[in-house]
Amino acid sequence: MIKHLEDKIKLNRLLNLGTDLNRIHDPDALMERILKEARDFCSADAGSIYIAEKNHLLISYIQNDTLSENKVVYKEHHVPIDNFSIAGYCAKTGEIVLLNDVSDIGSDLPFKFNSDFDEMTGYKTKSILSIPMKGSLDRVIGVLQIINPLKNNTVSGIFTEEDTKTLLHFAGIAAVALQKAQLTKSIILKMIQMAELHDPSETGAHVHRVSAYSTELYIAWAVKNNISPEEIDRNKDILKLVAMVHDIGKVAISDLILKKPGKLTDEEYEIMKKHTVFGAKMFEEEHSEFDQAAREVILNHHERWDGNGYPGLCPAPDYESDKKTQGKKGKEIPLFGRIVSIADVFDALSSKRCYKDPWPHEKVIDFLKENSGKMFDPELIEIFIDNIDIMNSISQKFR
Ligand SMILES: [Fe+2]
Ligand SMILES: [Fe+2]
Repeated sequence: MIKHLEDKIKLNRLLNLGTDLNRIHDPDALMERILKEARDFCSADAGSIYIAEKNHLLISYIQNDTLSENKVVYKEHHVPIDNFSIAGYCAKTGEIVLLNDVSDIGSDLPFKFNSDFDEMTGYKTKSILSIPMKGSLDRVIGVLQIINPLKNNTVSGIFTEEDTKTLLHFAGIAAVALQKAQLTKSIILKMIQMAELHDPSETGAHVHRVSAYSTELYIAWAVKNNISPEEIDRNKDILKLVAMVHDIGKVAISDLILKKPGKLTDEEYEIMKKHTVFGAKMFEEEHSEFDQAAREVILNHHERWDGNGYPGLCPAPDYESDKKTQGKKGKEIPLFGRIVSIADVFDALSSKRCYKDPWPHEKVIDFLKENSGKMFDPELIEIFIDNIDIMNSISQKFR
């Protein structure tokens, strides 16, 4: 009777959790939560999520209650997808692996337990339950693994068939979330390639440099403003990608204007300005943090600190009208927009374009200083110039 009641409570918790997990949009936060809940349901002391990348698994999330102080020890660990390790075998074959004593793996199994982690941390792994995370076409995209079931708070339990079923459920949710995040990233990368074909000034090197300058500028700003390391980590990855699509809206601008060798007429320039709103429209339905950040960058990278930029505070229905609006001013311009605007101008002035030679380095720096508080956020310009050596090394790297 008690068992029946416990099962019912567990099932209810699982059902409620499904709705709860659906509300988490950030892939990292979602993965951490899935791992935590999977461990809770199976009373596991530790666990990890591996993500498949080409022919290896990257250990991407680690939780260990016993070693909570040292949780990042193994963060960059790679495991080949082959038959010789437990997670590798699980990913290669798509089979579930349940081992209640890793020191006694039968000789009929091709893999061995790798004790490197235990030797490095002093942890003692006894039992492992490894489940493949399967995406579309049954392709294994990762592995969810839990370690050492607890009984009365000590490592003395065993994993059961029921634990396997529970973990399969969590592996399914994790696989869907991971695929969604990977899809967003791959769509953005394809858009960048498409824009490169259309716009001769937005070369691969330019978008990579703008992305790298922006990321470094954000990190330096965030450290100075006491943003938590976790938030910095999350935001820098998003900005790195979305800064690359700052001019994606130019795909909607006619070749006659975009590739015109001479100066644009006033009318042509007004059309050109619309690349900000056309681009932002592509990300209007905000499905993820990427969409939201991409919109922020694309719409605002030509706004000016003094309010004389564009496109200004135009509401969505006015995007395609010719109504002129006042530009956004100061901190009305979102942070990512203010950052990319500096990175984009710095790179445009420093590089050769079909209509101009690169400016000398000192002249570019003078331009940034002169426009601090006019075109650009003064705090960000100060940080950018303080970090000019890093920016110069980026410019060398993507030459
Ligand atoms: Fe632009
Ligand atoms: Fe650009």
